[in-house]
Amino acid sequence: MSEQKDQQKTQPKKKVRIAVFSTKTWVVNAFNEINSKFNFEISYFEARLYNQTVALAKEFDVVCVFVNDKLNAEVIKKLKEHNVKLIALRCAGFNNVDIEKAKDEKIGVVRVPAYSPYAVAEHTLGLILSLSRKFHKAFTRIRDGNFALDGLLGFDLHNKTIGVIGTGKIGQIFSSTMLGLGCNILAYDKYPNKELKDKGVKYVDLHDLYEQSDIISLHCPLTYETYHIINEYAINAMRDGVMIINTSRGPLIDTNAVIEGLKKGKVGYLGLDVYEEEEELFFEDLSEKVIQDDMFVRLQTFPNVLITAHQAFFTREAVNNIADTTFNNIKEYFEKGSCVNEVETKKK
Ligand code: NAI
Repeated sequence: MSEQKDQQKTQPKKKVRIAVFSTKTWVVNAFNEINSKFNFEISYFEARLYNQTVALAKEFDVVCVFVNDKLNAEVIKKLKEHNVKLIALRCAGFNNVDIEKAKDEKIGVVRVPAYSPYAVAEHTLGLILSLSRKFHKAFTRIRDGNFALDGLLGFDLHNKTIGVIGTGKIGQIFSSTMLGLGCNILAYDKYPNKELKDKGVKYVDLHDLYEQSDIISLHCPLTYETYHIINEYAINAMRDGVMIINTSRGPLIDTNAVIEGLKKGKVGYLGLDVYEEEEELFFEDLSEKVIQDDMFVRLQTFPNVLITAHQAFFTREAVNNIADTTFNNIKEYFEKGSCVNEVETKKK
């Protein structure tokens, strides 16, 4: 009898089984390295998680997903049928998960609230400088043996007015960085930040921000309120030749409206790390395929548009933080039944 007990004691605990969706090489490398500390049982799937692929989640305790997986009510219902207990987002935003439905089905949702706000803030500055100083053009010109300066005329950032929409973790770092370059910062957020105010950031309403900013950068989450926050009316209120930067979420900008703004010359520069319909494009090598998204193709025809494919977060530091925080979230959730990084809803 006591031998049986001893055997039970020494029997290894059942490993938590994790299905990682939207897998890329960098995910496997980072996760496998960090998993040596955690010892989870991991299966990697290249597929995105959405209603066509949810069957893959059968027999797993956790689905680990990223920005372009689509966890609507139907997918979450199926996850419940498959006995999945936790949705572990390896990103900060959770607009792609029906949180209410997850709570109804008693499936936990955890996320990585901040993997490197510096990575995104620095990428934002990179887009601004590339557009303002035309680095992307200079690079190809020099390779072509063209050393002429015509067409490369830029502008100083010093003394320009930057409108920052959303002054959370990323917006704060970005604002401080731009203050350091001698810019004036106008900000809009429902919850103004005292530290930023003390540093000289001026909170204004959206209309004033549109009217007075030379560069407008989006750092708010995607919600019902912020969907198409940059639309035809907003663009009409902006300065002629304004620069718009979006490193936050694609649907914050009405792409049709911004294309019209670019055609009229109202929008002078556009820098995007995210795009409204990016699910069908980003994170894949489509270089041998014909792109079917006509709006995206139109955007690429403008000389004053610079697009990166959702890479603002992509630094060594951030990737390690993503893997580490994701596994700590899962560990904490299964040990305590809750997690400090759980996404809450009013319902709870
Ligand atoms: P955060 O939660 O720290 O800050 C968001 C801020 O937006 C908060 O201060 C909030 O009060 C404000 N906000 C909410 N609703 C608003 C509204 N209607 N109008 C104006 N402000 C509003 O989030 P964090 O970490 O700064 O990230 C910002 C966004 O950046 C995320 O929601 C995510 O979509 C995006 N992101 C993009 C990445 C990329 O690789 N491109 C990587 C990480 C985040």
